Amino acid sequence: MGRNIHISASTQIGGVLEPAGALPTIIEDGAFVGGNCGIYEGTIVQEGAVIASGVIITSSTAIFDATTGSFIKRNADGRIVVPRNAVVVSGSKPIIRDGKPLESGVHLYCPVIVKYRDEKTAGSVHLEDLLR
Ligand SMILES: CC(C)(COP(=O)(O)OP(=O)(O)OC[C@H]1O[C@@H](n2cnc3c(N)ncnc32)[C@H](O)[C@@H]1OP(=O)(O)O)[C@@H](O)C(=O)NCCC(=O)NCCS
Repeated sequence: MGRNIHISASTQIGGVLEPAGALPTIIEDGAFVGGNCGIYEGTIVQEGAVIASGVIITSSTAIFDATTGSFIKRNADGRIVVPRNAVVVSGSKPIIRDGKPLESGVHLYCPVIVKYRDEKTAGSVHLEDLLR
């Protein structure tokens, strides 16, 4: 039997109908999505992944994996895949033009995988369940 999915208050999950899109958004077993998140445009949140409150993911929001130093971009199907057990929080990245960060120092929003689920995460997520 699959593990429960936890979707918190004010989170929106975009699907095929609302907003209009060609790909269903998929939240797999054991995933935790915090409050005020938006998961859109065919995103796949794989098993056990944890999405911190306020994180927005669309097919255009490449996710930076701080554990590998690389970006996860939309795949050939046009989907962003949040890997199994990833812990994703809101971050930012500098705007790069001509290979350099803008002098203004302005950043863009960027979801970041800070780590993969560990005992601390299990405690944070478990507490949320106990509070309900
Ligand atoms: C993601 C979450 C579960 C924390 O997971 P965790 O495994 O306990 O995370 P940690 O405290 O070990 O933090 C790991 C790193 O991520 C950072 N981090 C954790 N949560 C973050 C967040 N929401 N935004 C930005 N950074 C965050 C920490 O500062 C830490 O960074 P560091 O290693 O540089 O110090 C928690 O932040 C969260 O979003 N909970 C959901 C709250 C919610 O919406 N509840 C439902 C409504 S009641």
